[in-house]
Amino acid sequence: MTTLNIPMPDDWHLHLRSGEMLNKVLPYTSSHFARAIIMPNLPSPVITTADANNYRQEIIDNLPENHHFTPLMTLYMTESTDPDDVRLGYMKGEVQAVKLYPAGATTHSDAGVKNLEKIYPVLDVMEQIGMPFLVHGEVVDRDVDIFDREAVFIETKLIPIRQRFPHLKIVFEHLTTKEGVDYVLSSNENTAATITPHHLVINRNAMLVGGIKPHYYCLPVAKRESHRLALRQAATSGDARFFLGTDSAPHLINAKESACGCAGIFNVANAIAVVTQVFEDENTLPALEKFLSLNGAAFYGLAVNDRRIVLERSEQCLPIPDNIKLAEGEVTAFDPMMDVYWRVRG
Ligand code: DOR
Ligand code: ZN
Repeated sequence: MTTLNIPMPDDWHLHLRSGEMLNKVLPYTSSHFARAIIMPNLPSPVITTADANNYRQEIIDNLPENHHFTPLMTLYMTESTDPDDVRLGYMKGEVQAVKLYPAGATTHSDAGVKNLEKIYPVLDVMEQIGMPFLVHGEVVDRDVDIFDREAVFIETKLIPIRQRFPHLKIVFEHLTTKEGVDYVLSSNENTAATITPHHLVINRNAMLVGGIKPHYYCLPVAKRESHRLALRQAATSGDARFFLGTDSAPHLINAKESACGCAGIFNVANAIAVVTQVFEDENTLPALEKFLSLNGAAFYGLAVNDRRIVLERSEQCLPIPDNIKLAEGEVTAFDPMMDVYWRVRG
């Protein structure tokens, strides 16, 4: 059997939710990932360091006993976020980053930012202290086509922010376009990007051809094939500016299969397996640990994990993971629509 031994991966973009959902999804992450950047878009968002500390405690309280997992907490940027709270939270190591949701862009983004100039005082502080600014990079204007929202965001929002804050550490989250890849490649080491497993393997046809498939709907929405190929090239290149952020975002089936279905794909049950298969298919397995375990830690200024995982390649294709069962319904696991032979041992 072929095996690979790599430092334990981290997930640099993860939605864990709260309550029973948190309890049910967390073990999928904490069994194979050492750390994860936890998204703050709860129904009542994580806005202050005190909120983040409460949420961290809820996560820790739900960890299976034998799992050693460190949640890295983020704050949800609002137009009234207090720069002093951000500074203090970061200095104490209680929060790692602040996340920008343009108001109206996605799930629970209503409290997000409408006017970027309002957050300049916070960005000033973050630039000074080296705290990463995590960006949901889509404009929300009604007249901008949903497939163009990322590219328009780069031109109209990101480039001006970068000009004004040249030393700010920016993570362009869940990249979905060639324009996004090219922007990151044209930037210096202060700009990085997360890439999801699903955007490496599906394009918009998965969602729209042969009937509408709500379980492939997420935001930013998957784009045409040429963009997927650009993302695969970026992820498998080993370039230090690209690393895994699963953006695993569980919703109950009835919230997805609806006249107005929620955006989000629950993918952590097979994320490492799918990504490893992508690297094998691209003949780039030697670069896998950069994408999964090294690049993100370096960008965030954290040590690479001491613990390691073993990936095994079997002769048989991996089944699609089972649905997760909650009291109020089930969550569907991501079907990558491709043959996956790799799995994490143990
Ligand atoms: O697909 C998504 N789901 N994109 C986001 O930006 C948010 C996430 C969620 O929280 O469900
Ligand atoms: Zn997300």
